Amino acid sequence: MCPPTYFGVVYEINPWMHVASPVDPRRAADQWEALRATYQDLGVEVVLADPAPGLPDMVFTANAGVTWDGRVVLSRFRHPQRQGEESHWRELFAHHGMPVLDTQGISFEGAGDALFVGDTLVCGYGFRTDRAAIPLVARALGVDAVELELVDPRYYHLDTCFCPLDAGTILFAPAAFSPASQARVRRLARRVIEVPNGIAAGFACNAMAIADVVVSSEAVEGLSDQLREAGYRALGLPMGEFMKSGGGVRCLSLPLPEIAGGAGSGEPAG
Ligand code: ARG
Repeated sequence: MCPPTYFGVVYEINPWMHVASPVDPRRAADQWEALRATYQDLGVEVVLADPAPGLPDMVFTANAGVTWDGRVVLSRFRHPQRQGEESHWRELFAHHGMPVLDTQGISFEGAGDALFVGDTLVCGYGFRTDRAAIPLVARALGVDAVELELVDPRYYHLDTCFCPLDAGTILFAPAAFSPASQARVRRLARRVIEVPNGIAAGFACNAMAIADVVVSSEAVEGLSDQLREAGYRALGLPMGEFMKSGGGVRCLSLPLPEIAGGAGSGEPAG
């Protein structure tokens, strides 16, 4: 995680961001601290990145890169407003001894658009990540990839509308995907929980599964029954300040089993 020291909505690069409705820094700090405390209560070791002034979206660590088996593919941000983050993330991963690969200038926004279902990398494209980046990322990590087309600008990153809880259970918001990609998702896992628009728009799919607890924004409580049937408990946290920037729990978190000794990964480490 990266503290929200310099977090704010000072530019608009997704439909949720409005510079006219500014972030309350106090409330953002409280919401971020509550998430960190939740992870710690659940036994997750939290590794912190240093925030940098002038990079308000660095708090969304999911976009630093995607990691697998000790390696990382660094993000190449679509928008110039976030490209200044790249050198910070490169340095942080190198500091932790992880070989850092990249997509040679092709847009790719890390774990925001690349999530593991078992050992298959599921990638979203259409808004932030270029489809051409996907085979490069898969080759760099030595994994197979599935490509999903995102069609609704409110769900501009895959992690806003799709969340693997384990290798056999997925949350997804069908309206965010092209018809062919919706069909693809329904074949990806044994249990696919469809999240209606009203709940998905509250960032419920932007979740992190820690053992049997699904940590997300308050909207996840609307999925309590389906989650219980799947063996999970919903834990909703207020995320309003980060939602003003188009982010929630998952965006604020990058699972690093490589660094944190396996704790805290929402994804099976393979
Ligand atoms: N304001 C940020 C952006 O538009 C939010 C990023 C949210 N991150 C995520 N993994 N969905 O880039």
